[in-house]
Amino acid sequence: MCVIETSPVVETRRLVLRAPAPQDAPRIAALANDIDIARMTKRMPHPFHVKHAEDFVVQVAAQDPARASTFVIEHEDQGPVGVIGLFEGEDRVPETGYWIGREFWGRGFATEALEGALVWASRKWRRRALVAGHFADNPASGRVLEKAGFLYTGETRRAFSLARRADADTRMMVWMA
Ligand SMILES: CC(C)(COP(=O)(O)OP(=O)(O)OC[C@H]1O[C@@H](n2cnc3c(N)ncnc32)[C@H](O)[C@@H]1OP(=O)(O)O)[C@@H](O)C(=O)NCCC(=O)NCCS
Repeated sequence: MCVIETSPVVETRRLVLRAPAPQDAPRIAALANDIDIARMTKRMPHPFHVKHAEDFVVQVAAQDPARASTFVIEHEDQGPVGVIGLFEGEDRVPETGYWIGREFWGRGFATEALEGALVWASRKWRRRALVAGHFADNPASGRVLEKAGFLYTGETRRAFSLARRADADTRMMVWMA
């Protein structure tokens, strides 16, 4: 039997992945209000105001936990450093996406959070595969996905980026449990 957790918590070596709370909104907005983050994602607006973060917290609370989970990535000393989501999208297998605040780049947090999320996805969410796409001009995210065990499918899609107000080439990757 698969018991769906309504508010899962994932612990890794340095990080805790947990549901966003209303009090996280100012911090999320401060980290997310960065064009170099938003333009690497499909859906993040720019500028990213506290109201956007408040709406994000409400949207996450309304997610069907069988179909999606979105986590704040919280560092043991630094507090929230980013966000990671796993959700059913346009593909048969669910998709993952994430961002880390600029001041925390290059410390392995995205990789550690993604690896923790993958363990959770296979053991608790009972998913056997996930897809992810990164924009072709975002090799850092491709590297994160590779380090976490994703492989390139060879497919490149055009995907719309809200912050770019344009489509961009998106290199598709897949992970299997
Ligand atoms: C991409 C992002 C999530 C990486 O977060 P992070 O915590 O710095 O990632 P990590 O430290 O775990 O790993 C980054 C890897 O990318 C590599 N990297 C960084 N810049 C790179 C570049 N320009 N080209 C190739 N590799 C690069 C790093 O060297 C590191 O790999 P290594 O461990 O083999 O040296 C972060 O930069 C971010 O949030 N960017 C904006 C939003 C985004 O891109 N989200 C993902 C959308 S698909």
